[in-house]
Amino acid sequence: MPLVHSVLFALAASTVSTRAIPILQPTDALRLDHEGSFQLSIFSDLHFGEAEDTLWGPEQDVKSVKVMDSVLDSEKTTGLVVLNGDLITGENTFLQNSTKYLDPIVAPLVKRGISWASTYGNHDSDFNLSREGILEEESKYPLSRTKKMVAASDAGVSNYYLPVYGNDSAVPEFLLWFFDSRGGNYFQQESAAGKPVPQPNWVSQSVVDWFTETRSGLEKKYGRIVPSVAFVHIPVNAMAAFQASGVNANHEPGINDDNPLAQQGSASGQGEVSGTVFSYNGQDIPFMQALLDTKGLKAVFSGHDHGDDWCFRWDSKLKGMNLTGNGLNLCFGRHSGYGGYGSWTRGSRQVVLKKGQEDVETWVRLEDGSVSGRVTLNGTYGQDSYPAVRS
Ligand SMILES: *[C@@H]1O[C@H](CO)[C@@H](O)[C@H](O)[C@H]1NC(C)=O
Ligand SMILES: *[C@@H]1O[C@H](CO)[C@@H](O)[C@H](O)[C@H]1NC(C)=O
Ligand SMILES: *[C@@H]1O[C@H](CO)[C@@H](O)[C@H](O)[C@H]1NC(C)=O
Ligand SMILES: *[C@@H]1O[C@H](CO)[C@@H](O)[C@H](O)[C@H]1NC(C)=O
Ligand SMILES: *[C@@H]1O[C@H](CO)[C@@H](O)[C@H](O)[C@H]1NC(C)=O
Repeated sequence: MPLVHSVLFALAASTVSTRAIPILQPTDALRLDHEGSFQLSIFSDLHFGEAEDTLWGPEQDVKSVKVMDSVLDSEKTTGLVVLNGDLITGENTFLQNSTKYLDPIVAPLVKRGISWASTYGNHDSDFNLSREGILEEESKYPLSRTKKMVAASDAGVSNYYLPVYGNDSAVPEFLLWFFDSRGGNYFQQESAAGKPVPQPNWVSQSVVDWFTETRSGLEKKYGRIVPSVAFVHIPVNAMAAFQASGVNANHEPGINDDNPLAQQGSASGQGEVSGTVFSYNGQDIPFMQALLDTKGLKAVFSGHDHGDDWCFRWDSKLKGMNLTGNGLNLCFGRHSGYGGYGSWTRGSRQVVLKKGQEDVETWVRLEDGSVSGRVTLNGTYGQDSYPAVRS
C-alpha cells in the first residue's frame, strides 16, 4: 500500500462530531424526520482509483474523501447519500483489487452512520471492474441499500427502488427509484482484435418493463400515487434537447460548460436543433416515456457531465424530440470527485422532500462550504428568476 493509500484509509477511519439526527441502524427503513422532511445528498462522479500507478491518482482520492467530509459536515440532516454513478474509474484499476476502492468511498458514510444507495455509471464497468463486483463489495456493508431488482442479462445492475416512510409503516411517503444507464466496457471481454467490448449506454427495455410493472403494482398495493424522485447516471436526451434550446442563467442557474452534453444512447442519428448540435437516435425514448408516464414523479437526477449542474422543468415539446414534457424536473448533480475530467469546484447536490408538499428544494453544497444554485422545483420553476451561478 503506497503512502498516499495509507493516508486515504487513515482519513477514512478518523472520527467525526455527533450528528443532528439519530444515526440510522442498518436494518431501519428510511424515514422522514420529525418535521416530515427527507434530505438526500448526491455524490456524483467520484471517480476513485484513477491512475493508481502514479502518485497523482491516489492523491485525488484523498481529496475526494475530504469533499465528502466537508459536505456532510455542512449538511447535518442528510437521511440518505446517493452515489450517482462513476464511483470508480475502471479503466485504470487492477483485476485483483478493483472493487476495493469502494471502502474509502463509503468510509465517510460508515463513520457517520449514514446509509447510502448507488447507481452505477459508465466508468463502473471495464475490463478489470464489474458492476456485479461493486455490488458485492457494497453488500458487505449493512449501511448499503444498493440492490439489483432486475435479473435480465441486459439490464445492468443498479435498478431498484427504496421506500421512505413517515410514521405510518404501511404506506411510504416517497419512493426513490434508481436506474442503470450502463455503458463502459464489459468485464473481462475482448474483441478478436483484443479491444474492449462496449456496453450499451442507455436504460434497457427490460428495465423500462420492470419499472412500469412495478410502478403499477405499487400503486395498487398502496391504493394511491406515492410521490417519487429518480436517479440515473447518464442524463436522458431531453436534457440535451433542452440545452440546445438554451439554458437561461437566471431561470436554470448552474454551470453549463459541457455543451453539448453527453447523453444516453449513441449520439448520432436523427433529431437536430440549429445552434448547438443536438443529435440522437432515440434509444432512451421508452425510458423517457416511462418517466413521463409516472404520476407523482417530481424529479430525475443525473451526473456524467461534470461541467453541468443545472435543473430544468420539462414542460413542453422540445425541438428535435417527439415527446412532450409534463412538468417533470431533470437535474444534474455536481461533480464530487477529484478523479475524472474537469476542475470545477467539487460539490454535492442536496435535495429536500417534504411530506404534503409538491415542491422540491435543492441546492449544491460546494467543497468550500458555500451554497450554489439554490432553487425550488415548483410549478413556476423555469420562470422564476434566481441569481446566476459563478463557475
Ligand atoms: C410522527 O409522530 C410524532 C409523534 O406523534 C410527531 O411529532 C411527528 O411530527 C410525526 N412525524 C411525521 C413525519 O408525521
Ligand atoms: C487488468 O488487471 C491485470 C491484473 O492486475 C493487469 O495485469 C492488467 O494490466 C489490467 N488490464 C487493464 C486493461 O487494465
Ligand atoms: C491494487 O493493486 C495495485 C497493484 O498491486 C496497487 O498498486 C494498488 O495500490 C492496489 N489498490 C488498492 C485499492 O488496494
Ligand atoms: C418523431 O416521429 C416521427 C414520426 O413518427 C419520426 O419519423 C421521427 O423519427 C421521430 N423523431 C424522433 C427524434 O424520435
Ligand atoms: C416557486 O418558488 C419560488 C422560489 O421560492 C417562488 O418565488 C415562487 O413564487 C414559487 N412558485 C409557486 C407557484 O409556488
